[in-house]
Amino acid sequence: MLLGHEKICFINTPTPLEPLPTLSRELGVELWIKRDDLTNLGGGGNKLRKLEYLLAEAQAQGATTLLTVGGAQTNHGRLTAAVAAKYGMKCVIVCVDDDPGEVSGNLLLDRIMGAEVVLQKSDGRPEEEQFAALTAQVKARYEARGERVYEIPMGGSNVTGMLGYYECAMELTAQAKPLGLQDATVCCAVGSMGTYMGLYCGLKNEGSPLELVGIAISPFGEAKERRIVEYFGEAKAGLGLGIDAARGDFRIEKDYTRGAYNNPSEPVRRAIYHMGHAEGILLDPCYTGKAFAGLCDMIRQGRVRQGSKLIFLHTGGMPELYTPHHRVEMERELRPGVTVM
Ligand SMILES: Cc1ncc(COP(=O)(O)O)c(C=O)c1O
Repeated sequence: MLLGHEKICFINTPTPLEPLPTLSRELGVELWIKRDDLTNLGGGGNKLRKLEYLLAEAQAQGATTLLTVGGAQTNHGRLTAAVAAKYGMKCVIVCVDDDPGEVSGNLLLDRIMGAEVVLQKSDGRPEEEQFAALTAQVKARYEARGERVYEIPMGGSNVTGMLGYYECAMELTAQAKPLGLQDATVCCAVGSMGTYMGLYCGLKNEGSPLELVGIAISPFGEAKERRIVEYFGEAKAGLGLGIDAARGDFRIEKDYTRGAYNNPSEPVRRAIYHMGHAEGILLDPCYTGKAFAGLCDMIRQGRVRQGSKLIFLHTGGMPELYTPHHRVEMERELRPGVTVM
């Protein structure tokens, strides 16, 4: 029980907190990685922590079906599918996106785990409107068959979902201290904001000395600035937090979005190759690769002090590497190292 909310435990926490010795030497910082990519269901990733709390709420409401929304390659959809499969529930993933053609990456995994995926091409209306209409239509179809549908918002990012990362903040604080990392800065990718907000609230409300910086992976304009403040207000009220925060308190780097959500980008691919070569760890092109490329740039530009202690949160997302959208450029760049005898 955390702040009045139950969870259903299905992940192997604490996840490892590991040093990155080669990258630390190269970059002149003390760099560690928190392996939330190694969470043990459906390929792993950050959404599983949120889903432990969301599933408890769904079951308390007697739900038989989990419905969530996202892009065609949503990692959150894949992990919702995994949780539904494990707990004998149905799962439907509602996407406003182009048909990617190939059933690969997360989309393939969704189907392997038994989820239905409903894809509708954008008609140009505001995305929220389109999601609301399509979700209502799909939900009605499931309800007509006698299913009880529990709706999970984009990325699992509501007050219930963010509790998973509130808890992770406590876990990290406990892990960091014996390693001499109690004053380190935690760095995470920011998408639908639940991971960042959970960590922010957990660190501040529990009085942790760890610092937090988020790296936005898609353009972070005025609407998102407003949303982050509103989200904090929902968390404070919903969980009875004893802390306050204003707009300027949320440290989110906005210079590394590379123009758009999930766009192929050369610096991001270079960061993925760098992590792969140096440490044998696989990042993804949409979230963790973008965030890591941003962090490396901040270090090189001197925006992060040499010698700093940093904990990079690996939030998962690897299946995206296998999508044609990102694979084409990687194949072109990496083919020269394939020797055909
Ligand atoms: C692999 C990965 N990393 C990071 C994030 C960002 O987390 P959040 O949406 O909670 O900001 C996501 C969200 O989908 C993700 O799939």
